[in-house]
Amino acid sequence: MKGLILSGGAGTRLRPITHTSAKQLVPIANQPILFYGIRDMADAGITDIGIVISPVTGSEIREAVGDGSDFGVTVTWIEQPEPLGLAHAVLVARDYLVDDEFVMYLGDNMLEQGLASFVERFDTARRAARSLKLGEAPVGAPSAQILLAKVDDPSSFGVANLDAEGRVIGLVEKPDDPPSDLALVGVYLFDASIHEVIETITPSERGELEITDAIQALLDTGRVVHHEVLTGWWIDTGKKDPLLECNRLVLGTLERRIGSTVDDSSSVDGRVVIESGARIVNSTIRGPAIIGENTVIEDSHVGPFSSIGPDCRIVRSEVDNAVVLRGAVVSDIARLTDSLVGRDTVIRRGDARPRAVRMMLGDNCHVEVE
Ligand code: G1P
Repeated sequence: MKGLILSGGAGTRLRPITHTSAKQLVPIANQPILFYGIRDMADAGITDIGIVISPVTGSEIREAVGDGSDFGVTVTWIEQPEPLGLAHAVLVARDYLVDDEFVMYLGDNMLEQGLASFVERFDTARRAARSLKLGEAPVGAPSAQILLAKVDDPSSFGVANLDAEGRVIGLVEKPDDPPSDLALVGVYLFDASIHEVIETITPSERGELEITDAIQALLDTGRVVHHEVLTGWWIDTGKKDPLLECNRLVLGTLERRIGSTVDDSSSVDGRVVIESGARIVNSTIRGPAIIGENTVIEDSHVGPFSSIGPDCRIVRSEVDNAVVLRGAVVSDIARLTDSLVGRDTVIRRGDARPRAVRMMLGDNCHVEVE
C-alpha cells in the first residue's frame, strides 16, 4: 500500500502565517504538523509516500522533509499546479499511484489514534473478499474506507449519512443542512476504482473537485464504502483555535526532558521539554510546555500549553496557551494568551509618549488589545 499526503492547500484560514510559510509546516509542540502524518504512515508500515505540493510552498516543504530517510520512508514529490481540490490532487498523483491501494492523509489533519488498525481493517476486508471461492462474486470488498468523527459544526466539513444498519449511504461536502453530525476526517483508504470515478465528477461550488463527491460516486456505482467512527481526538488544524487546541493535546503527551540550563532562581514544573542551548533565567515554566533550542526565557512565566520555538526571547512577560514560532521576541507583556505568533515577530511594551499601540502588521493579521 502507498501513502499520499496532500500538502498543496493554500492555508487561507491561517493567514498571515501562511503568507510566508506552508500551513503544513506550522509547528505543533515545535514539530511541523506534516511530520506527524508522515510518522503515522511509517508506524503503519507505509514507507512509499507521495507528497502533493504546490508550486508556491513546495520547495519549503521539500526542504523540511528531505528525502524521507529521517522518517524511514521514501518520498516522491508530486506537484499540483493549482489547488483545485482533494480529488484533483489524486488526479495529479495518478502516475505515482498507478493501480495500487493507498491511504490518503490531509497534511493539516492530526489524529490521536495511529493509522495501523485503520489500514489493517481495510486490508483484512479486501483479503477476505479475494479469498472467496472461484465463481463467487466478491461482494463486500470495500473500494474505500473512510474515517468519521462526531463534530459540533458539521457544516464546515464533509458529512456522512448512514442508514439504520449503520452503512454509509451518502456523503455531502459542507452542507447547509447536515444529515448527521459525523464529519469526514482527512484520512481515507482507496483502491484503484477511485480514479475511475474522479473522471466523472465536476467541480463543486467552490470550484474544487471534491473527494467527498468522488466517494459519493463510488456509492452511486455500487461500490462498497466502509467506515469507522473515531474514538480519540481529531483536529483539522487549518484555523488558529483548533491549532492551539491541537498544540495543547500534543504537549500533554510529551515526556519531561530538560536539555539545558535552568538557573537556581527558576522553576520548571510538570511536563516540560527544554531543548539544548535554551536558557531559563529567573523564570517559571509550567507544563505542559516546550522551549526550543537557543531560546532565552528571562524574568518571565511561561504557562501551560505553550510551545516556544527556537531562537526566541521571552523577557519580563507572561505567556500561556500559545504557539510562538522561531525567532520571535515577547518583551514586557503582562499576559500573552490564546495566540499564534509568527517567525521573527516582535511584541513589546514601549515607553514612548503619547501612550499608544504602535504596530507594523502584515496583511490579514488579527490583534486584540486590552
Ligand atoms: C476537507 C474535506 C472535508 C473534510 C475536511 C477534513 O475540507 O473537503 O470533506 O471533512 O477536509 O479536514 P477543507 O479543509 O478542504 O475545507
